[in-house]
Amino acid sequence: QVGELARDKGVNVYCVGGFVRDILLHLPNFDVDFVVEGDAIAFARAMARTFGGRVREHRKFKTAVVVLESGEKIDVATARLEYYEYPAALPTVELSSIKMDLFRRDFTINALAVQVNPDQFGRLVDFFGGQKDIKNKTIRVLHSLSFVEDPTRIIRAIRFAQRFGFSIGGQTERLIKNAVELNIFHKLSGSRIFHEIRLMLAENKPVACLKEMARFNLLKAIHPMLTMDPAKQQILEEIEKVVAWYRLLYLEPSPCPWLVYLLGLCAGFNDAQVQVLVRRLNLTKKQACLLTSLRHSIRKAIEDLFRWEQGKQATSELFFILEPLALEGVLYLMARSRKESMRKHISLFLTQLRTQTIDITGKDLQALGIASGPIYGQILRAVTAAKLDNDSLSREEQLRMARE
Ligand code: CTP
Repeated sequence: QVGELARDKGVNVYCVGGFVRDILLHLPNFDVDFVVEGDAIAFARAMARTFGGRVREHRKFKTAVVVLESGEKIDVATARLEYYEYPAALPTVELSSIKMDLFRRDFTINALAVQVNPDQFGRLVDFFGGQKDIKNKTIRVLHSLSFVEDPTRIIRAIRFAQRFGFSIGGQTERLIKNAVELNIFHKLSGSRIFHEIRLMLAENKPVACLKEMARFNLLKAIHPMLTMDPAKQQILEEIEKVVAWYRLLYLEPSPCPWLVYLLGLCAGFNDAQVQVLVRRLNLTKKQACLLTSLRHSIRKAIEDLFRWEQGKQATSELFFILEPLALEGVLYLMARSRKESMRKHISLFLTQLRTQTIDITGKDLQALGIASGPIYGQILRAVTAAKLDNDSLSREEQLRMARE
């Protein structure tokens, strides 16, 4: 349908990037990006009129997003050539053809396009040997200035290599080493580094990525204390196992992987050192606050858990120790627990206790004629504790308890 519209509008339109790469790799990808040899914004408007939906326009970049009525989003870009005014700068944009558009991309495997116009439907456009590199399982840049133009591509190279089980081509690896020696990360903004690191930590094998980052001396380039000594590696591997385990449970909410891994990467740091990293990665106030407050509450939870283990081990007490922590903190604690028994307790909290609710609310307390105030919190907490420690506590028993 998009192809027919392209024919009617007299422009060449292509699917590009990850979508094409993943088709060739037989991997699912529902994230279609279109490139138009012509005015992408006009084409996006025509798409919205034809298929129903609205358009978000980015005039400066000559790109648009079509938001379909289903909520699905489709990126539409004008085939473009980017000029990099100085290394690590953001690009300015000029009109150009599909070849130039593909040439500005990061790796050959991402520089593939498939035309959708009916008379050329399915024509694979491969100027730079992307197909061959997919076959040879190789990550390769298109030209020797690629990492100078955009150093974040180094992190992307590592991420894609680990995701697909590819290796980084010899020349590309040399270019990475050169770029690191030239201290190219120095100029790069923290936000851009952090954006890529977040994507990397959301992958299935972030530890292998982090090891590669360390091999290229990239962790140190970001923060002198970011190292991958055996102890740190072990912590991160445990985190990876716990995050993978939790993913398989398909529980809500899902955690922010970056936060769990960052807690691991900062293990052994003092608060001042964490602040240096926070500033380097230009974390937002909210992100920085999450990280630092979680570090403090984890410290307290560790002490409380130790005491709990020595004591009577009431389920409700375990609940009240872990419940105030963000999910990422609980996962981190699980990963750091050496004792199998403690892991089991934390797993019980995550899979069962956390979602347990009592059957009475503030409204019931009102109906019982109890004057509102802090007492409500105390009563509900006591009822929660009783229910956790006594599975079969009925609603009537809970109400009776509240009255008493
Ligand atoms: N791209 C690039 N340089 C970057 C970022 C992106 O050349 N620093 C190009 C690549 O061609 C990539 C496309 O922009 O295919 C879209 O970027 P993105 O959505 O990040 O990449 P995907 O390949 O779709 O990756 P993912 O599968 O992780 O979504």
